[in-house]
Amino acid sequence: MNAIQQFYSYIQDLLADPKVRKMANISHHTQRITCLDHSLFVAYVGFRLSRLFGGDRRAIVKGGLLHDLYLSTQCRERSMFRHLLLHPEMAVRNAQSFHLTELETGIIRKHMWPVTITKVPTRREEVIVSLADKLCAMAEVTGIYWRLKCCRALHSM
Ligand SMILES: [Fe+2]
Ligand SMILES: [Fe+2]
Repeated sequence: MNAIQQFYSYIQDLLADPKVRKMANISHHTQRITCLDHSLFVAYVGFRLSRLFGGDRRAIVKGGLLHDLYLSTQCRERSMFRHLLLHPEMAVRNAQSFHLTELETGIIRKHMWPVTITKVPTRREEVIVSLADKLCAMAEVTGIYWRLKCCRALHSM
């Protein structure tokens, strides 16, 4: 089993859920990349980072996949800054149906630090997903995303 297949084995059930699928209808960071593409990328980078730095891999992958489950773009259309501040809590609310642990809740809630200044990631898993989110966002806006083999593989599954 290669890394991508191993990664997918953690998220099979989640990917079948309509709420998660709904992220495929929302563009994120760029027009060509959806919220689901971004979330898969963050979860996958978190998965790879956890192989280097440890942490609860299952929580990292689940938290990574659900970290931007805000599902509505209304807030973003009104004010981008407001969206940056509020979307982690929207994601926590929407992800409640996935029986989040306290650790997974923390991963989602704190991923936007330092924008959300008081929600500081302190646990290894929270730091990994917050870091993965920033790395992935940079790769997406610069177009590096399309040159990465793992992204092409994630995109085609
Ligand atoms: Fe986010
Ligand atoms: Fe994100």
